[in-house]
Amino acid sequence: MKDALKHLLARLPVEDVERALAYAVLRQSFGALARCPRHASREELWEAAVGLLGGPGRPALVVEFGVHEGASLRWFAGRLSHPDARFVGLDTFTGLPEAWGAMPAGTFDTDGRPPRLEDPRVRFLAGLFQDNDARLSRLLEEAGDLPLLVHYDADLYASTLFALALVDRLRRPYVAVFDEFTGHETRALRNYAQGWRADVDCRGCVMWRDRWPAQVLCTITPSFRPAAPAG
Ligand SMILES: C[S@@+](CC[C@H](N)C(=O)[O-])C[C@H]1O[C@@H](n2cnc3c(N)ncnc32)[C@H](O)[C@@H]1O
Repeated sequence: MKDALKHLLARLPVEDVERALAYAVLRQSFGALARCPRHASREELWEAAVGLLGGPGRPALVVEFGVHEGASLRWFAGRLSHPDARFVGLDTFTGLPEAWGAMPAGTFDTDGRPPRLEDPRVRFLAGLFQDNDARLSRLLEEAGDLPLLVHYDADLYASTLFALALVDRLRRPYVAVFDEFTGHETRALRNYAQGWRADVDCRGCVMWRDRWPAQVLCTITPSFRPAAPAG
């Protein structure tokens, strides 16, 4: 019986299993979302995120994974007015590196060009997140200890997991916003929190048709492991 079940499970399309898994993860790992404040729009949620940074007049560092035409980054740069605020947007600018459900690789292509934002506080890193690791680390170091907000809007599991792991290296609590939570990003956040032993505290969400959290606001606290003793 067990063998027959294993035989059957091994033939299920991985994409479908992963899609179904996201709903189980949502309910069992992020049940707290059912009790956290609900916002009417993603802009209202972003406003709550700015509140967690200390308000729109405070300097902060905003890192966005997934920029496309810059709608969300433009909003954050317009809202956080402090001259010392910094914004970093990462994207291939040639679109999704792999298919995302019905959307083929290349969706969101902007001909390799970042959006035009006439704001000297904004920097873009073009290319795969995975190829911009060193450059991003340098920019993050330069920004010092500004309160940090990370906007995870890459849609894909692998991209989001990689980005979460990259930010984890900073070893400091920060504000995080997920833009397409139900699906790939749900699994990425659970696997990251498990694997890296990070704490995730849900602080707000925007519901899709009153059923599933589309955008999610949380704080993430990486685990502060002591350095290994020398020798
Ligand atoms: C939904 S769009 C971003 C939308 C944008 N934040 C907005 O609000 O208008 C997702 C973007 O993530 C980018 N992306 C996904 N995975 C990536 C990766 N591994 N490296 C670089 N860019 C990636 C895609 O190129 C795409 O432009």
